[in-house]
Amino acid sequence: MTSAAHSPSRNLGQDTIIVLVGLMGAGKSCVGRRLALRLDIPFIDADMEVEAAAGCSIVDIFEQYGEEAFRDGERRVIARLLDGPPSIIATGGGAFIDEQTSALIADKALSVWLRADLETLVSRTSGRSHRPLLNDSDPREILSALIDQRYPVYAEADIVVDTGLDSANVTCERVIDALADHIPSAKMPRDSDMT
Ligand code: S3P
Repeated sequence: MTSAAHSPSRNLGQDTIIVLVGLMGAGKSCVGRRLALRLDIPFIDADMEVEAAAGCSIVDIFEQYGEEAFRDGERRVIARLLDGPPSIIATGGGAFIDEQTSALIADKALSVWLRADLETLVSRTSGRSHRPLLNDSDPREILSALIDQRYPVYAEADIVVDTGLDSANVTCERVIDALADHIPSAKMPRDSDMT
């Protein structure tokens, strides 16, 4: 890839959009918020942007208009965000699966897959009702099927970071290390710089 986002001289966190991808419960929003603080750039939750654009919750969008309408809105919102200034964008779990969206992300941003195991995803999503895909059947079965379907696609991300039930801070530092390794010339605030 030869776009501006992949030029070796850029200063990560100052002139780069970083997009977090991965399944529901992987911690994209929590880790993204901390990462944005550490890199001193804005954090954007794409799901919240979709809700703001639609004027209703994701559950309501699914119920009233269906999943396809949600996917259309999600695609448009993420395209807009990718045209914006540097930021950390947490995407909904299905966004990177959309071919147009993943092509745009590959062109305009650096993608980081937060890869979590099934137990982590089940534990982190349990007792929550704001994810329509998990509301109607057994969440473990759904998440297991989504791992089979989606993990080969998430694997196309620029960077893969494993996450479990560690705190968001621990995963955030792991992402920073992975970003620094991915682009050695980029200036990244390593934990050891913060003494
Ligand atoms: C979805 C994930 C959700 C949200 C929507 C659909 C998916 O976001 O976009 O419910 O298809 O995996 P999170 O991954 O932030 O929960």
